[in-house]
Amino acid sequence: MNHDLTLISTIAVGFALAFVFGYFANQLRLPPLVGYLLAGVAIGPFTPGFVADSDMANQLAEIGVMLLMFGVGLHFSLADLLAVRRLAIPGAIAQIVLATAMGAGLAHLWGWPWGHGVVFGLSLSVASTVVLLKALEQRNAVATPNGRVAVGWLIVEDLAMVLALVLLPALAGLMGGHVPTDGHGSDQNIFLILGITLLKVGVFIAIALILGPRVLPFILRQVARTGSRELFTLGVLAIALGLAFGAAKLFGVSFALGAFFAGMVLNESDLSHKAAANSLPLQDAFAVLFFVSVGMMFDPTILIKEPWMVLGTVALILVGKSLVALAIVSLMGYPLSTALTVSAALAQIGEFSFILGGLGLTYGLLSAEGLNLILAGALVSITLNPVIFSAADRMIQWIRVQPKLNACLEAGCGGRFAQLEGELEVARERAAARAAAHKTFTPEELADRFPLFTEMTPEQREVLVLHFEPRHADPGQRIIRAGDQADCVYFIAEGEVEVSVNGRKISRLQAGDFFGEMALLSGQPRSADVTALDFSKFVTLSQRDFREFLRRFPEIGDVIAAQAAERGVMNRQLPREE
Ligand code: CMP
Repeated sequence: MNHDLTLISTIAVGFALAFVFGYFANQLRLPPLVGYLLAGVAIGPFTPGFVADSDMANQLAEIGVMLLMFGVGLHFSLADLLAVRRLAIPGAIAQIVLATAMGAGLAHLWGWPWGHGVVFGLSLSVASTVVLLKALEQRNAVATPNGRVAVGWLIVEDLAMVLALVLLPALAGLMGGHVPTDGHGSDQNIFLILGITLLKVGVFIAIALILGPRVLPFILRQVARTGSRELFTLGVLAIALGLAFGAAKLFGVSFALGAFFAGMVLNESDLSHKAAANSLPLQDAFAVLFFVSVGMMFDPTILIKEPWMVLGTVALILVGKSLVALAIVSLMGYPLSTALTVSAALAQIGEFSFILGGLGLTYGLLSAEGLNLILAGALVSITLNPVIFSAADRMIQWIRVQPKLNACLEAGCGGRFAQLEGELEVARERAAARAAAHKTFTPEELADRFPLFTEMTPEQREVLVLHFEPRHADPGQRIIRAGDQADCVYFIAEGEVEVSVNGRKISRLQAGDFFGEMALLSGQPRSADVTALDFSKFVTLSQRDFREFLRRFPEIGDVIAAQAAERGVMNRQLPREE
């Protein structure tokens, strides 16, 4: 065969083995991701048999991370991030510093140069968002206050790692690594590089948050209106991956962060649920490849050659980092349940650790052995993470039933937590209010309220709902003036209106009725005055959308046209005004 089939074989073997191993892990009551990791080890270069292409697997894994971060963004708004900032920002920074110091200390004991120690420590200090999300999803805890704190904390870590990745090449010489010869070396002013990086990240965030909410939901809405599910899914993927890639190229932020912001921007839109649902299967599939690729990088012989070093690394990740997080959260005055959740969340390492370790290797700031230790640490800690989470859950349960402990550990520091919970609640309410302001009907409600639309399929109704613009009127308010140019047709959702021709009251219309169709159909000015009799709510269709609707649903069009004709006849029979 002279085709290059690396991509196909990597995906096919990756999926197939991950599925088999994942299934058996599940049968053995282990989390499936243990199976995915082992599948990776099996097709990695360090075990006999088929060897998949690691570069390819890494790129596929990166897509998984991007899609996952996009998913996080879809569920995590800026308001959430701001609500947890008082805990997450100082907490994550302090934890990174302390964990890095511990890693460097451990490396010092092993006799590594201090530059190596810092890179090693930094790699161990950052936890994987992918792993955390899987854990939170499994316990249905993504939306809980503690879950939000943990996600916010990891996003701060991710942001810090973006800075670390950019600064490492610039600092390589100073830290005792190779001074690169490609001009990105230490001859450049570090503060300048730091400044430029911060500026780029800042510009990116500003663009994402200012322009994004105006442009992205608009694009998706236009796509959704086509009624094509395929185009919508494609639109979601194009936004997630396109923005992630563009952000990485233009602003030097990581793919993952770019995707996260794309998701966060769409979060504000009422289409975010649909976007999340459509991208979920791909997210799941590629996230599996992330775990497979981690397994592939791992050389299992290190477990035999350097068991103590592996043990030290794992202990630092599982015990050291957890204790540091526990201490920081408790010292900041938050309850023990939050501290335990954050500790469990941090007791693992993942994507950023490998990237940082790999970069360290390139710049002579980490040995191959160091990188392998990081991988061993990742493999073991990811495998054990579900156990740690269950232990934390059990501990929280236990504390809750101990009245004394509960009083001093939970209730005692309830003040700050209550404030945080309050802010999260406000954020959620505001998001709900914004969604409600835009929301018209669900497809089911539409069918319930308007007999006209019952014949349409749920998908067709879903598309129609996207075309609706909500409007309302107070009692006595004139909604349509006879003789005016027509712009839209009204469907009454609530309330009552009165139609009058030449000052003569001729009809009352209630919820479920429509008006304003005659002028749109005939191209003439409005034929009557329409005034609200009650506090009324409507959904309207613009002239263009109404035409398109009639073209697509000629049967419903016939019903509307018949009604309009009947009204016309009735009006012509009215005695002429003197
Ligand atoms: P249009 O002419 O666009 O604007 C005024 C609307 O009042 C009209 O469309 C109809 O929807 C509505 N209308 C006019 N005449 C009657 C009628 N006799 N009975 C009920 N509704 C009417």
